[in-house]
Amino acid sequence: MEFRRITNLPPYVFTIINNLKIEARRAGADVIDLGFGNPDIPSPQIAVDKLIEAAQNPKNHRYSVSRGLPKLREAVAALYERKWGVVLDPEFEITNTIGSKEGFSHLMWVLLDRGDAAIVPSPSYPIHIYGPLFAGADLRQVPMRHLADQRVQGDFTGDFFDNLTTAYDVGWPKPRVLVISFPHNPTGAVVDLDFMQKVVDFCREREMIVVHDFAYADVGFDGYQPPSILQAEGAKECAVELYSMTKSFSMAGWRCAFLVGNKEVVQALVKLKSYLDYGMFQPVQIAATVTMNEASDYPKEVCEIYQGRRDALIDGLARIGWDMPKPKGSMFVWAPIPEPYSDLTSVEFCSLVVRECDVALSPGLGFGPGGEGFARFALIENEQRIHQGIRNLKKGLPKLG
Ligand SMILES: Cc1ncc(COP(=O)(O)O)c(C=O)c1O
Repeated sequence: MEFRRITNLPPYVFTIINNLKIEARRAGADVIDLGFGNPDIPSPQIAVDKLIEAAQNPKNHRYSVSRGLPKLREAVAALYERKWGVVLDPEFEITNTIGSKEGFSHLMWVLLDRGDAAIVPSPSYPIHIYGPLFAGADLRQVPMRHLADQRVQGDFTGDFFDNLTTAYDVGWPKPRVLVISFPHNPTGAVVDLDFMQKVVDFCREREMIVVHDFAYADVGFDGYQPPSILQAEGAKECAVELYSMTKSFSMAGWRCAFLVGNKEVVQALVKLKSYLDYGMFQPVQIAATVTMNEASDYPKEVCEIYQGRRDALIDGLARIGWDMPKPKGSMFVWAPIPEPYSDLTSVEFCSLVVRECDVALSPGLGFGPGGEGFARFALIENEQRIHQGIRNLKKGLPKLG
């Protein structure tokens, strides 16, 4: 049997490492899992309490509203105004999505059709690449190696925009959509509001829609605060942004995110989703509303934990001869494959690391061709486990240092 939409998908490279991890665990190894970006920090207690309370009420067991309860959308509007000074109309400029991954995937169906094209940086979070492909569109991948490689000093914003312009100018049809995401997964690259303004200007001039996946909106380190693209002048003419409770409030399993910004795009997604789903379980929506309103400092606590882990990891790696700069955001460390192992591909290197060190990492290639030569550490184990991981790496990678 042939399933055309999925047969042409390349094998998911993360599965290779995941299988090795499962094998090692079955054999009794204590694998330090820094592979999959699955947050381990508990969700706020108030979210759990409200969920239990709301779940006791049978009125909340019925189908809910696909775009989210009014109070939920009002809580998002209040959060955006508080944090970024961005004023959003909860009626037209905000919709709930079942996590940003779901929101992004269906948004690509809304924005793109067969024969359309989208510009996506490489490396990228995999759904940024596959979302447009699933919608039948062509992909123009823009390298962001310099922007992402923090070992190279200097401002490479110009470089990125040159690549973007080339991706637009060369080829037909002209791309209708640009996908960006900062702080960036997998590289940890961050940008400022100036950068966002340039993106908005670029897209307005070309009548493109820019989709900013703001999954790490609250994960900025050393005083750095990630900008919302909606802070840029004129952004609402061409930009939409995905804000998620997954990382900010450590609510990954709750699947609660939002698409905000340009009202035509938001309402187009609302229309598609009204055909596809009946919204999130209402107690989850109620718990999310109360959490955003009453646990507004939780993202700061979460961020401090990630910063401590980042420091433990990078300082520890430096001690064993594997140096790299500290990223200013995201929950990842993007590590160049160390020189003595540079003859290995990222998949070979990560396979070696899980076998010899009992440490699971994600191979850079899994994030597109621009990710080759790197491995990604996710900061999802505590500092003590990270220290153990460093000891394992020192022992299992004797050519280091
Ligand atoms: C850039 C990016 N977008 C989206 C997601 C998924 O977020 P959600 O749980 O809201 O679907 C992740 C998770 O790793 C991510 O890194």
